[in-house]
Formats: sequence, structure tokens, C-alpha cells
Amino acid sequence: MEVTRERAWETLSRHTKSQALLRHALAVEAAVGWYARKFGEDEEFWRSAALLHDFDYEIHPTLDKHPQDGAPILRDEGYPEELIETVLSHAEHLEMPRDTELKKTLFACDELAGFIHACGLVRPDGIETLEPKSVRKKLKQPSFAAGVHRDEVYRGAEELGVELDDHIRNVVEALRPIASELGLKS
Ligand SMILES: [Fe+2]
Ligand SMILES: [Fe+2]
Repeated sequence: MEVTRERAWETLSRHTKSQALLRHALAVEAAVGWYARKFGEDEEFWRSAALLHDFDYEIHPTLDKHPQDGAPILRDEGYPEELIETVLSHAEHLEMPRDTELKKTLFACDELAGFIHACGLVRPDGIETLEPKSVRKKLKQPSFAAGVHRDEVYRGAEELGVELDDHIRNVVEALRPIASELGLKS
């Protein structure tokens, strides 16, 4: 099958009804898509993998099932192994090698996009004027967006080979055009 963003969205929205999860998928998609363009990679494929990385979370909300039990569903729907392997690689507990730029990018964007989204929700102008400095400050407050694994944010940027401040700036820039879809003020 040909992997398209449209097809990925269709798969995602068939398995996921929660607005929060759909917004998370859109945020990670925007960030990964931004990097695909920067690296001159296949943006459609990268966006599709990002959209689908948590597609089964609503039906498999625990780590004994997510994302591994989602893989056969994607396989049944005809997605290629490259995409399925990428989806699986975002999960730390599966300990799969992140041996492609896409896998590194997805891992680096997953937790950070969620965190930046959370930062924007408590600011009067959303992410419009959000700077790396205030994101880093919030990263050091364990009670803020407590579900975001800080170690994965730091390691993600490191594995991608991008300075954390630059990575934050890139992801903020990537999210700005879809701020209103994410429920952020713009
Ligand atoms: Fe996940
Ligand atoms: Fe995620």
C-alpha cells in the first residue's frame, strides 16, 4: 500500500476518539513533519508514522499492550514494516534500536511536543512567544505536566544530535501553525 497522511489519519481516527490523544498525534506529526522538511526526507511518510505512533493507546492504555499489540492491527491494514518498526521504537520498554533518522526524530518529538503543548495551555498567548528558557524552567518543575518523562526529553534531543534549546525552538515553530487545532490561543 501507499502510505499517505490521509490514510494514516483515517486509521488513527477510527481507533482514537479522545480529543487529547488526537491533539497529541497532531502535535507530534507537526514536529516530525518539520524535521522531515529540514532533513529533506519523505514528509508524507514521516508524518504518517508520527500520526500513528500512539494510534492504539485508547484501546491499549497500558505498557503491557501499547504499542506492541497495535502492530498486528497496522500490519492487517497493510502498513509497511518500516512504519510499524518506527511506531514500536518510540516505546522505551521495548528497547528497540533507534537506528534511523525517523526513529530518532519521533522519539525526540514525542515527549517534547506534549510538554510544549502543556506549556502553551497555561500561557495567555499560547506558544506565540514561548522561549526555550521558560520551557527549560518548567522542565525542572516536576509537578508541571508530571506525566512527561524528562529523561526522555533530554535523551531524545541528545540522540537526535540537536541542542535542547534549538530542538525546543524548532518544535515550537512547528506547532505554531496548528495552535488553534491544539486548543492553544493564537
Ligand atoms: Fe506511546
Ligand atoms: Fe506519544
